[in-house]
Amino acid sequence: MPDTITITDDRTGKTVTVPIEGGVFPASAVRELDPSLFIYDPAYMQTAACKSAITFLDGEAGILRYRGYPIEQLAERSTYLEVAYLLLNGELPNAAQLAQWQSDVTSHTFIHENMRKRFVDGFHYDAHPMGMLVSSLAALGTFYNDAKDIDSKPSRDKQILRLIAKTPTLAAMCYRFSVGLPFVYPSNDLSFPANFLNMMWKVGDYQVDPRLERAMDVLFILHADHEQNCGTTAMRVVGSSHADPYTSAAAAASALYGPLHGGANEAVVRMLTEIGHIDNVPAFIEDVKSGKGSRLMGFGHRVYKNFDPRATIIKKTAYEVFEVTGKNPLLDIALKLEEVALSDPYFIDRKLYPNVDFYSGLIYQALGFPVAMFTVLFAIPRTAGWLAHWQELLGDKEQKISRPRQWYTGTDAREYVPLVAR
Ligand code: CMC
Repeated sequence: MPDTITITDDRTGKTVTVPIEGGVFPASAVRELDPSLFIYDPAYMQTAACKSAITFLDGEAGILRYRGYPIEQLAERSTYLEVAYLLLNGELPNAAQLAQWQSDVTSHTFIHENMRKRFVDGFHYDAHPMGMLVSSLAALGTFYNDAKDIDSKPSRDKQILRLIAKTPTLAAMCYRFSVGLPFVYPSNDLSFPANFLNMMWKVGDYQVDPRLERAMDVLFILHADHEQNCGTTAMRVVGSSHADPYTSAAAAASALYGPLHGGANEAVVRMLTEIGHIDNVPAFIEDVKSGKGSRLMGFGHRVYKNFDPRATIIKKTAYEVFEVTGKNPLLDIALKLEEVALSDPYFIDRKLYPNVDFYSGLIYQALGFPVAMFTVLFAIPRTAGWLAHWQELLGDKEQKISRPRQWYTGTDAREYVPLVAR
């Protein structure tokens, strides 16, 4: 069977044959047929907008790999900082590289005092921490004159380091501001996740529980990248205009903020709280199916039509966290929802399975995070993925500024009508 596709324009009889490689054929085939012909693909359902060597995802089979390594092995054996290095550099670091990377990240965790004293202090007392983080990411770039120097590799590496190291500091600062607690400075003797937990929770002689530190790291690993999702695509689209990485990351974080993307775990906890009791689960499911209620948040995925492998790992991590913190009372409702949905033809036929957000919110809540912080917790590790894609984009000779086309459906040309005549 030839690995080609032949497209015929029936209006002209013109035919074009192009190769199919890795299940993809170039849209240039359409351009060759007729340069004024475009493909209509809302939400990019069938469009590969880039080549990428970072993350492999097979949604039908439920497979996720970073640079070839199965997510299950990374979650079991790696650390977030090692995974961030892997995503950015393509290979796992050796011992010396890892030590250098950890030391580099650790020595960039502090932020300029003006970020806290002037910028963050300007927010309203009840500002949403994710809204604060989005703006803080963009603002952070204004502190570095070299941020716009994206053509220089040393400068790019510097910004990457800064963003990875400082995002947890910004995140914790946004939280502490929102509850009126004094800011806790980074502790460079702590690991990446322990330092974050310490900046979040330190009051008096707070000590990070190593089991919770590990759980946080696993959650960071699971959220580090997920190929061309809405946020990463935003990063690439904004990055393609050669905006600096801070502004691009702010755009990516804005996309993540939405309830259909990173905001879903927040929506899951609200949904479970509203359901209130396992006896209410069947009626809730009926409302979802009839369209009377909302969607079943934390279920379904654009790409996964099978179990999201991250959801399976998160469910296991949830039990490990509950051993330390006590069980989240919403767990029983979640388990019942999962059981009912997975045996219901509505969900089976549409291949709707729990996604990464179904259980992550329960863990975050058990760890003490308020619901409003959930998307922030997603954004911290996703920074590594965003930057890996940003870097890949800038090095890709086939990429240009993103500029999709449209199918114009408005009125034809007409004469301007003066106000008195309307
Ligand atoms: N509950 C009930 N029905 C659903 C759900 C759901 N969670 N998700 C999809 N459907 C139905 C949908 O109504 C449609 O039914 P029909 O064919 O009868 O019209 C069918 O399944 C296909 O849905 P779709 O909206 O065309 O699918 P999509 O690929 O555009 O949406 C999604 C993907 C994630 C936005 C969607 O499944 C959803 O809204 N889920 C709930 C929100 C959520 O959990 N989001 C987190 C995504 S994972 C985190 C991440 O990676 O960012």
